[in-house]
Amino acid sequence: MAFQNLVIEQKDRVRTITLNRPDKLNALNYATIGELHTAFDEAARDDAVNVVILTGAGPKAFVAGADISEMSGLSPVQARDFSRHGQKLMSKIEQLGKPVIAMVNGFALGGGMELAMACHLRFASENAKFGQPEVNLGLIPGFGGTQRILRLAGRGPALELCLGGQTIDAARAYALNLVTRIFPADQLLLETEKFAVHLASLAPQALRGVIDAIHLGGEAGLDVGLDYETQGFAIAFSTDDMKEGTGAFLEKRKPQFVGR
Ligand code: COA
Repeated sequence: MAFQNLVIEQKDRVRTITLNRPDKLNALNYATIGELHTAFDEAARDDAVNVVILTGAGPKAFVAGADISEMSGLSPVQARDFSRHGQKLMSKIEQLGKPVIAMVNGFALGGGMELAMACHLRFASENAKFGQPEVNLGLIPGFGGTQRILRLAGRGPALELCLGGQTIDAARAYALNLVTRIFPADQLLLETEKFAVHLASLAPQALRGVIDAIHLGGEAGLDVGLDYETQGFAIAFSTDDMKEGTGAFLEKRKPQFVGR
């Protein structure tokens, strides 16, 4: 599908989705969130996609938040719909079953930070900036930010960031577990692509098992979480890739996974 506000690229089983409203620092309006829903549905369905990189166009921003000019005129009922529209996108990304890497190349504020936190991995440039500044607008996060910061960073940092509304740098975000890797700005693309290609060379069903066990299992009690792990472990035994992976080890050669 043709998109107005996204650029889609595909290389080596890695799909890159770039938010492309650089003049608005890639702010998320309703239409762009809709396009992201479609782009992630397509990535989920497409067997040629093993990994997704999500990033923002331009040198300044990943995403500077929900679109304030659009949001300012919403009625409470429309605001509820907008919040659900965004929350469903974040859950869709989290439950995609394929690894999604947020490549954070600048501001990740409000909805941008929420979007990054819904991705499985967050690789940031040294100059990236993070924050939940909604309180500065008389608002609170509406796309899952309160819940995902709580889960990633814990209650104290979640409260400090969401109450204070201040921006933090990449090093502080890393210290709070909000970012998984930091790179110099001129290395971010190279390093993110390198890791994505590595993930894309692995067995997709094994990656899916890990994501489901950690994301879905992690939201349940320990017994249910362990059951997700057991199911993923057992399903892996139905794949050609598991036979190839174990066989290659025993034959002292590199495995060639085929994605089945
Ligand atoms: N929604 C709508 N438009 C946004 C936006 C947002 N969240 N963030 C930035 N923009 C627009 C600006 O209005 C400006 O548009 P204009 O040129 O038509 O006036 C353009 O993007 C560039 O932003 P600008 O503020 O001029 O850049 P800056 O470098 O001076 O500041 C930020 C960058 C990120 C600090 C600042 O844009 C900002 O605070 N944005 C809002 C962040 C926020 O509160 N997000 C949470 C929303 S719930």
